[in-house]
Amino acid sequence: MSTAAGTQRLYDERAEKYEGMMWGSGDKKAVDYVFRNLGFHLPPQPRILDIGCGTGLATRTLKEVFPKSIIYGLDNSGEMLTRYHEEFPQATAIEQNFQRGIPLPDSSIDMAVSSASVSEYGNDKTLQDIHRILKNNSAFVNIGVKKNPITLVVTSLMWRYRPTTQEEFSRSCLEAGFSQVSPINLPWRTYPANRMRFAVMARK
Ligand SMILES: C[S@@+](CC[C@H](N)C(=O)[O-])C[C@H]1O[C@@H](n2cnc3c(N)ncnc32)[C@H](O)[C@@H]1O
Repeated sequence: MSTAAGTQRLYDERAEKYEGMMWGSGDKKAVDYVFRNLGFHLPPQPRILDIGCGTGLATRTLKEVFPKSIIYGLDNSGEMLTRYHEEFPQATAIEQNFQRGIPLPDSSIDMAVSSASVSEYGNDKTLQDIHRILKNNSAFVNIGVKKNPITLVVTSLMWRYRPTTQEEFSRSCLEAGFSQVSPINLPWRTYPANRMRFAVMARK
């Protein structure tokens, strides 16, 4: 497995072509489905943290679903964040390696989300820190890459991580202090994401 510095270089180098490379992955369908069907009450002007925001796939949908939200996008690739900032100048872009912590106050965030980042590149500290910055009764929504023979090969070679399973990731969330972790089932209309991605909601 690579270091955070190694993945930072990888995403810096691929930032320009990143969205094109992900075309056809179904990630947009998964993100759209999950954030439009949360079944979770948020305040009128929620503070939302997009962790490993990249060029802003999740933020794009969040702005549509929660137009009054105050969004923070965190990533350690300066090149990905530059593109994020160009598209979402009103969001707060935070350049930070989340394995080293999240520079936000305790209990300050109404919802944290991650698409293909925390379950792929995070560690125990990342999950404990997400728990710390969330307000009580709020939630962390993670859309991750499912572990299967295809993703195992593709992700280690191309993106330098080993995918996890929904069960393993849910267990790690519980160990980090979350009280309950529920799966969000991706329907067939999100294909191919329903075969390649998993989604969970971890409640604080
Ligand atoms: C597969 S991309 C996902 C980007 C975006 N969330 C999406 O769904 O398109 C993974 C992102 O996580 C970021 N990342 C990887 N390791 C990180 C770390 N240790 N700290 C902060 N960001 C990290 C990468 O720079 C990249 O933007």
